[in-house]
Amino acid sequence: MRNPHQLGAIAPSSKAVACLAASVVPNTGEAVVVELGAGGGVISDAIRRRLPPGGRQIAVELNDGMVRHLRRSRPWLEVIPGDAGDLGKFLGQAGVTQVDAVVSSLPWTLFDEQHQKRILDEVSAVLAVGGTFSTVITLAAMPFRRFRQFRALLKGTFTTVGVLGPVWLNVPPALVFTASTSCPSPGRVA
Ligand SMILES: C[S@@+](CC[C@H](N)C(=O)[O-])C[C@H]1O[C@@H](n2cnc3c(N)ncnc32)[C@H](O)[C@@H]1O
Repeated sequence: MRNPHQLGAIAPSSKAVACLAASVVPNTGEAVVVELGAGGGVISDAIRRRLPPGGRQIAVELNDGMVRHLRRSRPWLEVIPGDAGDLGKFLGQAGVTQVDAVVSSLPWTLFDEQHQKRILDEVSAVLAVGGTFSTVITLAAMPFRRFRQFRALLKGTFTTVGVLGPVWLNVPPALVFTASTSCPSPGRVA
């Protein structure tokens, strides 16, 4: 409530949305998963339920109060305070070079195009080939120009973009966009 321009939501995601967003998390092997904008932690919990033991779960969160809350309530979560636009730097400091899934509920329509692109480029750079990015988008956000900008950037950044939902059991109802790149780009070293 104190920071609407950072949180970008009137209510936390529902468990149904959290479950759908977390469905891109591998449920076998020792995967590394990153969550962007963990907030109150409802999606963190859904990721944890899916991720097998031995996996690594990291959350990047900008809001200091949310960071304190996550650290207090979810000691099993690696919480990195900061802007998702610095994802590569943060993961480097954490000794991570590639991740298997990135799950986001960032408020994309609060970001200008440059900020949207910076975050998507960072996600694309750290995501392993065959890994998937998912992001929650509420139906209320869809009429905005910044949503159309975001969708165009998403399509330009990844080779495959899909949509899951809608989930009506959420305030407001929401979709989950998924994106992945199935082949390494020519400039990318395997
Ligand atoms: C819409 S809330 C989602 C919270 C929670 N994950 C959920 O689904 O209920 C967005 C979250 O993203 C965080 N956030 C906003 N901008 C961010 C940024 N640039 N980098 C990291 N986190 C950010 C906010 O502080 C907030 O916790």
